[in-house]
Amino acid sequence: TKKHKVTVVGSGNWGSTIAKIVAENTKANPDIFEEDVQMWVYEEEVTLPKDSKHFDAAADGPQKLTAVINKYHENVKYLPNIALPANIVANPSVVDAVKGSTILVFNLPHQFIGRISKQLEGHILPFARGISCIKGVNVTSSEISLFSEWIGEGLGIYCGALSGANIANEIAQEKWSETTIAYDPPAIDSRAPSPSSSQINLVITPADGEHKDVRGRVSKTKLKALPTDYPPLDHALFKTLFHRPYFHVRMVDDVAGVSLGGALKNIVALAAGFVDGRGWGDNAKAAIMRVGLLEMVKFGKEFFGHSVHAGTFTEESCGVADLITSCSGGRNFKCAKLAVERGVSVDEVEKTELNGQKLQGTSTAKEVNSFLQTRGVVDEYPLFKAVIDILEGRNTVDDIPDLVARADA
Ligand code: NAD
Ligand code: 13P
Repeated sequence: TKKHKVTVVGSGNWGSTIAKIVAENTKANPDIFEEDVQMWVYEEEVTLPKDSKHFDAAADGPQKLTAVINKYHENVKYLPNIALPANIVANPSVVDAVKGSTILVFNLPHQFIGRISKQLEGHILPFARGISCIKGVNVTSSEISLFSEWIGEGLGIYCGALSGANIANEIAQEKWSETTIAYDPPAIDSRAPSPSSSQINLVITPADGEHKDVRGRVSKTKLKALPTDYPPLDHALFKTLFHRPYFHVRMVDDVAGVSLGGALKNIVALAAGFVDGRGWGDNAKAAIMRVGLLEMVKFGKEFFGHSVHAGTFTEESCGVADLITSCSGGRNFKCAKLAVERGVSVDEVEKTELNGQKLQGTSTAKEVNSFLQTRGVVDEYPLFKAVIDILEGRNTVDDIPDLVARADA
């Protein structure tokens, strides 16, 4: 039998951590996987500070990040002080990195996936399968879709989703956490479990009011079956690829629920940061989480109602657990808190404090708001609306209690 080759598309804080997890498992399972894991790196130059343990006076000055990762097995910029397995191969060419790979793990800030996905068209194995670790939703004018289905549609492959209460730095230090992986491919993978009829992913097009079955369209027109000489790409295989003693995986079918939890909690985490920065304490933060969870579930039911299970939000790591961790120690929370404390914008804090890491909540708040406006239901999501109105200066943090009280009126 052939072995699966794995590529991680992305190498930020979470991308590098997921590459570490995957590379540990490919090494531990040589019958199933090729040992080396390709990791695509958006190339940039880094200068090692003199007090870095990798500082080399002979090679002082700017160096390519890929060269540094491959030499020292550390992503010194986005995941510093974490030893990466030597079987991670940093590659600056995304087209080269995916060559011959049967498993593509997409893990980069959502604002960059469009351009990268375009570059990949025609360069991947037609029978590859994807897992999206991206936390965001894809909004174009009046349409909304999940990144898993949008990637799948663009590349003509099936793509599932991984999301959970997963602050990357903790997992990179091998502190225990859980995650949720949703994988529910159409029956074309004959050895994989067939999809349940409730698991159809949707794009909603308000213009014509029709629900389009994106995944069905892909499967009918382009999706290619995995050759039978590969181990089947099913729940068991993905669990083998991602589960670690410190990273516990639960496999589910609800791709929409898993993806939406990760995307929408980023908006709520900004609100949690706002009230914390204002000095209001844990009760206020808990109130934000309560209202935020209600709006997340409502959004899922309203726009992905054919496939989403409310239980995914309340029972799985990708739902309430991610909301709690993100409102405690996530970057969106921390930057929003600092912004209020310093009296500057969240964008400003992102630039000065994150050393190139990217927030997803600010753009998601804007994208979700524009989608809700075109659907005419923006007032039904008062917390989501309060966040964008605070970010854009139409409201202040002091307005939050009255604004969200409308949710209960
Ligand atoms: P990050 O915040 O570390 O972002 C930096 C990455 O973006 C770097 O790899 C950088 O090279 C890349 N980048 C910068 N400019 C680019 C460009 N023009 N084109 C392409 N790439 C560019 O990224 P991350 O933490 O790995 O996050 C990836 C996804 O994972 C996000 O959707 C995030 O919400 C999600 N996530 C993050 C965490 C976390 O704790 N960091 C945890 C779970 C999920
Ligand atoms: P931040 O992007 O806000 O750091 O959230 C990380 C995360 O998704 C934790 O699960």
